[in-house]
Amino acid sequence: MIELQDIAYVRSGVTDLERATRFATDIVGLDPVVREAGATYLRADHRHHCLALVESDAPGVHASAFSLLDDAALEAAESELLKVGCTVTRGSETEARQRHVRNFIAFDDPFGNHIELVTGQSTLSRPINFGRPAAGIAEFGHLCLDAPDVRAAHEFWSTVFSGRVSDWIGDGACLMRIDPVHHKLAFFQNDAGPGLCHVNFQVKTLDDVMRNWRFLQQNDVHILHGPGRHPTSTAIFVYFLGPDDLTYEYSFGVQLIEDDAAWQPRMFELQEPGSIDMWLGPTQRTVSQSQLEGLSSVSMGARTSDPGVGV
Ligand SMILES: [Fe+2]
Repeated sequence: MIELQDIAYVRSGVTDLERATRFATDIVGLDPVVREAGATYLRADHRHHCLALVESDAPGVHASAFSLLDDAALEAAESELLKVGCTVTRGSETEARQRHVRNFIAFDDPFGNHIELVTGQSTLSRPINFGRPAAGIAEFGHLCLDAPDVRAAHEFWSTVFSGRVSDWIGDGACLMRIDPVHHKLAFFQNDAGPGLCHVNFQVKTLDDVMRNWRFLQQNDVHILHGPGRHPTSTAIFVYFLGPDDLTYEYSFGVQLIEDDAAWQPRMFELQEPGSIDMWLGPTQRTVSQSQLEGLSSVSMGARTSDPGVGV
C-alpha cells in the first residue's frame, strides 16, 4: 500500500496566465511566489506552492500531486503501480526542478486522473506574502477529483493507496482522509471524464468565510454554492468559480478524526435535503475543470515495466 503523506499541489492549465494569476492573487488571495517558464506558482502555506497555473492552449487540469515520505517510498510506489497495471512515468530533472520537488513519478488512476507522486517538495520559511491578506487563508485544504463511479474510486484509492473513507454522500461522493483531517482527497461522481472538481483553502475563522463571501459578491465573482455547512466534515464553506472553470472553495472548521479505529463512515443520502448543506441553502453541482488531453507522458518516457530501477 502506498502511504500518502499529504496533498502537494495542483497544476492547472490556463489560457490567459495574466488573468488567472490576477484572480488567484487579488481575489483568492494566494501568494504568487514565482513566475517562470510560462507558469505562476502560488503559495498558501509552508509548501513552495500548492497551485501552479500553467499557460496552455486549452484550459484543463494537468495533474494533482501528493507527497510521499522519501525516494525509497517513491520507488516502492512505482513498483506497486506497475503491479496493478498502471503506466508510470518518471519526471525528468528539469520537470522536478519546475515543480520544486526532489523527484516525482506520474500515472493515471483507473478513471484517467493524472496524478503525480512527489518527494522533497520545497518548504519556504519566509513569511507568506498573501495577495489578499484579508482572505485569512490558513492552508491548502484538499483537492477533489471526478470519477464515474465513486465506489470504484474508493476501492483503488483505499487499497493501492492509504486513503480511508470518512463519509459517503450516496453514490455521489466519497470523502477520504490520509491523515486526521476529515478529507484531503475526495471523489465526485461525474460521467464527463477525469477532472478536478475543486481545490480547497482553509481559512482561519468563520468570519473569514463570511467576509470572503461578501468580498466575492462585491467583486462579481460567480458564487457556486454557499455559504453553507457540510454535515459530513462540519466545515462552513463557500465555493466560487475562477477563470478556466477552476472551482475554488474556502472553508473553516473541518472535523479531525483522531481515532481511526473508532470512526464509522456515515452514509448521507444525496437526494436528502441537507446532505450537502445542513443549512439547507440552494445546492448546485460545482463546475469541474476537465483534465487536459494529451499529457506529458511522451516527453517523460512512459514506463510500464522494470520496477526495480531507482528513482
Ligand atoms: Fe471541498
